[in-house]
Amino acid sequence: MITGHRGAAALAPENTLAGIQKAVESGIKWIEIDTQLSADKIPVIIHDKTVKRCTNGKGRVGDLTLAELKVLDAGSWFSNEFKGETIPTLEEALLACQEHNLNMNLEIKIHNEHEVKPLVEKVVETVKHLNFPIEKLLFSSFSKNALVHCQTLYPEVRRGFITEHKPSNMLDTIKPLDLYSLHIDHRILNEKLAKSIKETGLTLMIWTLNDPKKVDKFTAWGVNNIITDKPNVF
Ligand code: G3P
Ligand code: MG
Repeated sequence: MITGHRGAAALAPENTLAGIQKAVESGIKWIEIDTQLSADKIPVIIHDKTVKRCTNGKGRVGDLTLAELKVLDAGSWFSNEFKGETIPTLEEALLACQEHNLNMNLEIKIHNEHEVKPLVEKVVETVKHLNFPIEKLLFSSFSKNALVHCQTLYPEVRRGFITEHKPSNMLDTIKPLDLYSLHIDHRILNEKLAKSIKETGLTLMIWTLNDPKKVDKFTAWGVNNIITDKPNVF
């Protein structure tokens, strides 16, 4: 399986509806996007703590209301072709996935552990309100707390832990979370580690792989899902 990272981050501004459209045009079935809360507690789709890198605005996402976020241009920084693209709400992104029959790997982006409860509550509320099909949804996070909270509020939805470290006891520490998948930085994965992950029964995903020549190696190691900025070349 191939997943478009932040939509299709090499083809369109990341975490935008244009990115979701590029993923659809690439023919893939999964996208990964990042969500966090606006100041007025609406889940929006953006990766960084601030709007600086990916819009023409400034300030922290969590300090700006949806109305303040929505007037920002989230496309021009990438290219003029995408001028006027806006930061989507989670609801808009979910509707786009439903329209195109896409599966969503929704990363609960935690910049501060205080954000966990309010963010997960709003995410679950939004997903339930839209009746987004649970079989097409995967919650993922670097935050174990966020995954625990997802399990409490919506246990039917699969959960994946994202990691860029490989502490020797990592597989033991995540066992109680009853996860579906482990999403690991491809640069730290080796054959031995892949084997031990697969032996636990977890689905194995890697990010962010942009070189299709490496696909065969990772597939041979049992990787199930490749998260890439370039779904078109995969
Ligand atoms: O979900 C995998 C990947 O998105 C995690 O890293 O920083 O791109 O959210 P990041
Ligand atoms: Mg992400």
